[in-house]
Amino acid sequence: MCGIISYVGRKKAGPIIFAGLRRLEYRGYDSAGIVTVDKGKFHRVRSVGNIDALSKKLGKKELKGSYGIGHTRWATHGGVTLENAHPHYGEDGEVAVAHNGIIENYRELKEKYLKNHTFKSQTDTEVLAHLIEKFAKEMSLKKAVEKVLALVTGTYGLAVVSVKEPNKLIVARLGSPLAIGIGEKEYFVASDATPILPYTREIIYLDDQEYAEITLDGCQIYKLNQGKVAKESQTIDWSAEEAQKEGFEHFMLKEIHDQPKVIQDAFRGRLREKIGSSYMGGFNMTDKQAREIDRIVLLACGTASYACMVGEYVFERLAKIPTDFEVGSEFRYRNPILDEKTLVFSVSQSGETLDTLVSQREAKRKGANVRGLVNVVGSTIAREADGGTYIHAGPELSVASSKAFTNMVTVLIMYALYFGRLHDLSFEDGLKIIEEFKKLPQKMESILKEAPKIKKLAQKYSKYKNFLYLGRGINFPIALEGSHKLKELSYIHSEAYPAGEMKHGANALLASDFPVVAIATKNDLYDKMESNLQEVKARKSPILAIATKGDKKIQKTVSDVIYIPKTIEILEPILNVIPLQLFAYYVSVDLKRNIDQPRNLAKSVTVE
Ligand code: G6P
Repeated sequence: MCGIISYVGRKKAGPIIFAGLRRLEYRGYDSAGIVTVDKGKFHRVRSVGNIDALSKKLGKKELKGSYGIGHTRWATHGGVTLENAHPHYGEDGEVAVAHNGIIENYRELKEKYLKNHTFKSQTDTEVLAHLIEKFAKEMSLKKAVEKVLALVTGTYGLAVVSVKEPNKLIVARLGSPLAIGIGEKEYFVASDATPILPYTREIIYLDDQEYAEITLDGCQIYKLNQGKVAKESQTIDWSAEEAQKEGFEHFMLKEIHDQPKVIQDAFRGRLREKIGSSYMGGFNMTDKQAREIDRIVLLACGTASYACMVGEYVFERLAKIPTDFEVGSEFRYRNPILDEKTLVFSVSQSGETLDTLVSQREAKRKGANVRGLVNVVGSTIAREADGGTYIHAGPELSVASSKAFTNMVTVLIMYALYFGRLHDLSFEDGLKIIEEFKKLPQKMESILKEAPKIKKLAQKYSKYKNFLYLGRGINFPIALEGSHKLKELSYIHSEAYPAGEMKHGANALLASDFPVVAIATKNDLYDKMESNLQEVKARKSPILAIATKGDKKIQKTVSDVIYIPKTIEILEPILNVIPLQLFAYYVSVDLKRNIDQPRNLAKSVTVE
């Protein structure tokens, strides 16, 4: 995800901002830029690629000035180009802006306020820069930013400088974090504390809807529509690496906790209440073309393939289009039957997994419509597909995937909703799904609050050498993913079964030293699952169940329960996977495993 670093003080801003950008690299980015201000003039350097490319571009030149802003960009609106790299200028080059997040109504703002303006980029951010500059001609920079923030819908972490108001930073936050570092007559602002810690450990974290005016003499914080707020700074005693993890012990845990936030990035601007449907900008297919699709193939590897299994179920349920999920490493060596009425989604966090990529090429060769469903912007799968959708999970650094999985499932369900509405899904049913989608972040938060309880359970179960995960219907892929998480993080042998298949083999394994993790939430298959668990109980296996809040009855059958809030069946996977991620995580912590980098595994598998 994008990163911001800004400085105002008495030192040279350029080198401080440069060093800050390097410390933000871990967040993932595809272009970068810096602007400083000296004697009423901007000095800007931007480049596509990494910070080394930026440094090379600058060469021996110096970015003069003692205040400025820097940015690492992770493309959302507009491709990875020099023109789209931040900071952006207003039309007259008096204001420069760096921005994280997405301005949803940027087209409307452009249309309403900036009709005659020419834009150099395709970004939503440039619209902000033009608008702030326009308003700042008649009022202070602070007031202009305030006025723009009142007009904006979307999310932002924002940093603004002007040639007209020297030694001043205006920064603002809604949805995208900003930390202000307080030094000796100098201030730092960044997306997290990492780039600030070498200079000061006194940090103020802005909350949503807060903004600040920062000069050499002080930092005043305001809340939108409320005026000045007084905030105490905190003394941070984390190391830089701990700061990247935002206080969590591992990236894995941070990423699990990111989920309620990033799921909103996946559906932001894509849910259409008015028509009970969804809209994915990069899909590149008209409704008419989409209606002609008579088969869907979902291609992926690893965790992404379990997301596709959920997708298979949901596409058939909502869109009634025959759908198959395929593992890349198998698909590429078959001779798949595909034609122009087949729609293939390549689903991948990294966008680089070789088996998925090669399978996508094969699908293209056969004339299928290929779309990417990818996290890393500008990755090979994204570039080679005929269109597609970014899942917007943000950088995922832990090798074992968590938030990318939930966002993949989310985007697949949004596509199934779209296709459903093109066929015979009613408006009411479509709207119901949208309404339930919107309740998910809060429900996810409530599951995360159960972490201490899940930790205790994990400590109880970590002594076992084998595990069996059970699920039925749409929750069978979640049993697979839960088992996969446990395996890769803890190195404990674990497998997953559709619960109804137990009697054909897995029952032979059951015994008091062979625990079962069962997804037994209240849905159409609940009674069947309950009977399966009775069979497990009779064979003395300890059972840990994921059940729906309020289901007291299940306690009679199972040894331990983790309760989950109720949602509609097709959205259950998004909630049910979270306790399983936490369980695998805490078992592995208890066993002192290398959580973020499990042995023998890699984040991005670009070999066969
Ligand atoms: C590797 C990673 C997994 C991931 C899989 C597919 O095995 O360790 O976490 O699920 O690749 O990766 P992709 O980037 O295509 O989603």
